[in-house]
Amino acid sequence: MSSPSQGTVLKPKTGTYWAVEVSAPGQLRVVERQVPEPGAGQVRIRVEACGICHTDAYTVTGFYPGLILPRVPGHEVVGRIEGLGPGVSRWKIGQRVGVGLIAGEDGVCEPCRRGDAVNCQNPVVSGVTADGGYAEVMIAEARGIASIPDELSSTEAAPLLCAGITTYNALRNAGLRGGDLVAVQGIGGLGHLGVQFSRHMGFRTVAIGRGREKEKLAKDLGAHVYIDAAAEDATAVLQGMGGARAILATGTSGDAMGKLVPGLAARGKLIVVGAPTDQIQLSALPLLFGGHSIYGALTGTPIEAEDTLAFSVQENIHPMVETLPLEQAAEAYARMMEGKARFRIVLVPKD
Ligand SMILES: NC(=O)c1ccc[n+]([C@@H]2O[C@H](COP(=O)([O-])OP(=O)(O)OC[C@H]3O[C@@H](n4cnc5c(N)ncnc54)[C@H](OP(=O)(O)O)[C@@H]3O)[C@@H](O)[C@H]2O)c1
Ligand SMILES: [Zn+2]
Ligand SMILES: [Zn+2]
Repeated sequence: MSSPSQGTVLKPKTGTYWAVEVSAPGQLRVVERQVPEPGAGQVRIRVEACGICHTDAYTVTGFYPGLILPRVPGHEVVGRIEGLGPGVSRWKIGQRVGVGLIAGEDGVCEPCRRGDAVNCQNPVVSGVTADGGYAEVMIAEARGIASIPDELSSTEAAPLLCAGITTYNALRNAGLRGGDLVAVQGIGGLGHLGVQFSRHMGFRTVAIGRGREKEKLAKDLGAHVYIDAAAEDATAVLQGMGGARAILATGTSGDAMGKLVPGLAARGKLIVVGAPTDQIQLSALPLLFGGHSIYGALTGTPIEAEDTLAFSVQENIHPMVETLPLEQAAEAYARMMEGKARFRIVLVPKD
């Protein structure tokens, strides 16, 4: 396999395409592959954009349970259908579609039989059980794709397919009411969209970050109040405002999440969407006094991705993106891991 240096314009041979795969834990490398034919119920997508989500770290480090390398990461994928496998009737060649993390339920496990496809016990997981979107070409399950509205560019739509749907679904499913105090902890890829969704859903919105660097950005995105958790006691500030009805925890630190519980109002909820590798420490008494709850929320289904995209168009919500060429995936991934992305890096294959 050839492996061009950074900055090289990738020119695949006829019948081949470029992809960036995790060849061994921690190693992202550019490889040339044969263009595959979509199987039954699948489509082949010519990728136009793929966001780099922090969850990609579970693929890059090899941490995801059962992961087999090599594997192409990427689950914020937008592109055009260029091939239809047998039995695919709903989608058309040339149609612009997106693929998120959970991209094909098995349809037979108990959660699926109960209509809870996002909690399928044997799903196709883009970039984990199947190759994802750090590539010029991707095979996707037809039942796992979403239609992309014309109003959104591919680079803008891509982050909405994971960072967007995850925060949008978590907030709209939280049983909140207009005017409720909602805090979004962590102002990264997820958090910067969470702030916008919270504001546009009508909640009094608090952004919790570390340091003052993101304060202006968070307020520009719609936060009424910004808390610098490095300098202020976030829970005391929230209690001073009456307590949060919900805290959407998007950060990568379990330690930081558990400490937020005392900032909740009575019957307030800590919604865990960040996936830290450290433990969330909890004390019982702050949970008991006030009847707080803490629960997780996992991304969403393709039709919910379409809801996310439609709401974003309706409310003029846009992710802040930085684009980089596909072949700079390793550099882009490192930048995201260092917390330098503002706020989502999107990989773009060259023509
Ligand atoms: N539930 C789901 O379905 C789902 C979907 C997508 C992603 N995720 C997970 O969500 C998390 C965020 O993903 P992302 O793509 O938004 O990542 P990202 O863009 O890299 O942002 C990382 C976030 O973590 C925060 N953070 C880092 N260290 C922290 C610390 N010590 N204390 C408090 N906050 C800290 C940062 O907050 P500051 O603003 O303070 O720097 C930043 O907001 C990841 O764990 C990812 O795996 C889950
Ligand atoms: Zn993701
Ligand atoms: Zn299932």
